[in-house]
Amino acid sequence: MACLTFTAILIALFWVSLLLLLQLTTTNATKVSHDGRAITIDGQRRLLISGSIHYPRSTTKMWPDLIKKAKDGGVDAIETYVFWNAHEPFRRQYDFSGNLDLIRFIKTIQDHGLYAVLRIGPYVCAEWNYGGFPLWLHNMRGIDLLRTADTVYMNEMQNFTGMIVDMVKQEKLFASQGGPIILAQVENEYGNVMKPYGDAAKAYVDWFKSWGGSDPMRTAEDLAYAVARFFQLGGTFQNYYMVLYITIMN
Ligand SMILES: *[C@@H]1O[C@H](CO)[C@@H](O)[C@H](O)[C@H]1NC(C)=O
Repeated sequence: MACLTFTAILIALFWVSLLLLLQLTTTNATKVSHDGRAITIDGQRRLLISGSIHYPRSTTKMWPDLIKKAKDGGVDAIETYVFWNAHEPFRRQYDFSGNLDLIRFIKTIQDHGLYAVLRIGPYVCAEWNYGGFPLWLHNMRGIDLLRTADTVYMNEMQNFTGMIVDMVKQEKLFASQGGPIILAQVENEYGNVMKPYGDAAKAYVDWFKSWGGSDPMRTAEDLAYAVARFFQLGGTFQNYYMVLYITIMN
């Protein structure tokens, strides 16, 4: 009887410690969400200033200093693209060495107490050769139109994107795991090419949008309203990236 009670207490203790452990891991996690006005981090609306540092464009030795300078300049987050053709120069042969060490780069951001924004693409534009598409992808048998609902393309794109997400998850670098990555993005400025690609574009977007759960799209009207409010509240400088391009298109 005493023995049984003792076992029961032990089991109870085990559950209590397990619960404590779970609580510890969940308090470590950062909850990132959004409401009608802003991105929220642990329930607080945040105005986030992010600075881009593209890791392959500098050496590993430069990263701490670059990130520190950005932090001293007042940013909350460091944003980077992921460069597919650099990481997978030959199909299923990967390179994450030297200045391609994405995990080390994100950990360096974390060491500096900043958030990270990961734009996986894997089409990234980014003033980078072929926007990050590997040449082997372009030359694949049966591939038709990149960045659309082309099954050959989608298979390769999902494979690389999935691998990056897995790598980052394994290192517990997402905010939900206690890591610094508050936002991750698939594709890049897709609105620009959506119209000419037509139905194949719509099917493609519907496909990858379902990966993350909620719909992250923000309408132009909503954005314009946010900009108007920014000025109303004393904002003084705002930039429409590549506005000339839009003007020409119209
Ligand atoms: C990518 O494809 C390879 C086969 O070519 C497969 O072994 C691997 O699991 C795939 N990775 C992902 C993340 O889908």
